[in-house]
Amino acid sequence: MSSKIRLGILGGGGDSLIGVLHRVAASMFDQYQIVGGVFNPVWDENVSFAEKIGLPTHRVYKDFETLIREEVRLPENERMQVISILTPNFLHYPMAKKLLENGFHVICEKPLTTTYEEALDLKKTQELSNNVFAVTYTYTGYPMVRQMRKMVEEGVLGKIQKIDVQYYQGWINPVIHDPAKRAETWRLQPEKSGISCCIGDIGTHAYDMIEFVSGLQVNKVLSDLNYLYEDNKMDIDGTVLIRCAEGVKGVIRASQIATGEENSFVVKIYGEKAGIKWEQENPNYVYLMEDGQALKVLKPGHLYNSDLSLDGTKLPPGHPEGIFDAMGNIYKGVARAIKGEPYDSGEFPTIMDGLRGMNFIEQTVASNAEGNVWKDLD
Ligand SMILES: NC(=O)c1ccc[n+]([C@@H]2O[C@H](COP(=O)([O-])OP(=O)(O)OC[C@H]3O[C@@H](n4cnc5c(N)ncnc54)[C@H](O)[C@@H]3O)[C@@H](O)[C@H]2O)c1
Repeated sequence: MSSKIRLGILGGGGDSLIGVLHRVAASMFDQYQIVGGVFNPVWDENVSFAEKIGLPTHRVYKDFETLIREEVRLPENERMQVISILTPNFLHYPMAKKLLENGFHVICEKPLTTTYEEALDLKKTQELSNNVFAVTYTYTGYPMVRQMRKMVEEGVLGKIQKIDVQYYQGWINPVIHDPAKRAETWRLQPEKSGISCCIGDIGTHAYDMIEFVSGLQVNKVLSDLNYLYEDNKMDIDGTVLIRCAEGVKGVIRASQIATGEENSFVVKIYGEKAGIKWEQENPNYVYLMEDGQALKVLKPGHLYNSDLSLDGTKLPPGHPEGIFDAMGNIYKGVARAIKGEPYDSGEFPTIMDGLRGMNFIEQTVASNAEGNVWKDLD
């Protein structure tokens, strides 16, 4: 019998954006075997997709309740061990809760839930189950993002004094001005997406990145969100002032109406001694800026990088690492946790990151709704 971890997948069907990223990531280090799932709520599409990816269909189920019921009947050495949840946001909470209650490890897409209350409840359930729970803030898996985290930890920047993170996309621009397209986009529907579109979808990546790289918790937010149309209930752009631990101030600028932008996620952190800059669309470079010194450019695979960064680099320097590699590194860390092997806390974001992300989303929306006031995070 294969020693690979038996993985089930919920969502991520042929019609999805994120499914392929998870399937490739799961196969990257030969740690997982996809054994079944529910890829699509429409039965014919569910089965035909499984066939298309070469999966035997006897463990393709009609819904997640059936998956759990049938899988727990299997002997433990055949049963799925971990399930990836890749559905629209409103399904994350009911799926993850029931999976934890039935003894499965969980890999869940962000945002963790649709409300902070659900996230708190899920955290309690996870503590009781003691199962591994990863939240796929994918960008933390890039080797050079991991390197930035270690550089900050080692004091290369000195005391941090300014944080500026931009996450600009333009894809909602053609949607938002067209009422028909607006109505069919689930990210703009509160019942499927939660209380926020832009902040929930990408602002939360920026927030998580700040805590991941700087090691500082964000304590307060003050936001100014943009909806463009009165009948649009979901933010599609926003600026969030942040105050972090140790009095550090900064800003998150997130937009899905930054016309023409693709996935321009840019992280800039400045300290007393140096600044660092990283751009997602060019993820193999970290720029180190020191007073009075020539600019330094750090790249993956070189021995000057930290163990955490090198662990996420598969080939010698000069072979670019991309988004699939970043997700693959997260899956690799989760595999270590499931097998009970030692791992670095930077290898994958946990339910705690997902929970803090939900706190951030709710307080950011509340700040704007209450007239752009400072709101505390827990
Ligand atoms: N980590 C990242 O960088 C990143 C990037 C994109 C999306 N996401 C997250 O991934 C999730 C999915 O986003 P997407 O863009 O792939 O959405 P999508 O609409 O493209 O795909 C959703 C998939 O879920 C399936 N689905 C819907 N209802 C289902 C059900 N009841 N049971 C089983 N499957 C069901 C759909 O058939 C489809 O295959 C969201 O939570 C989103 O926030 C994360």
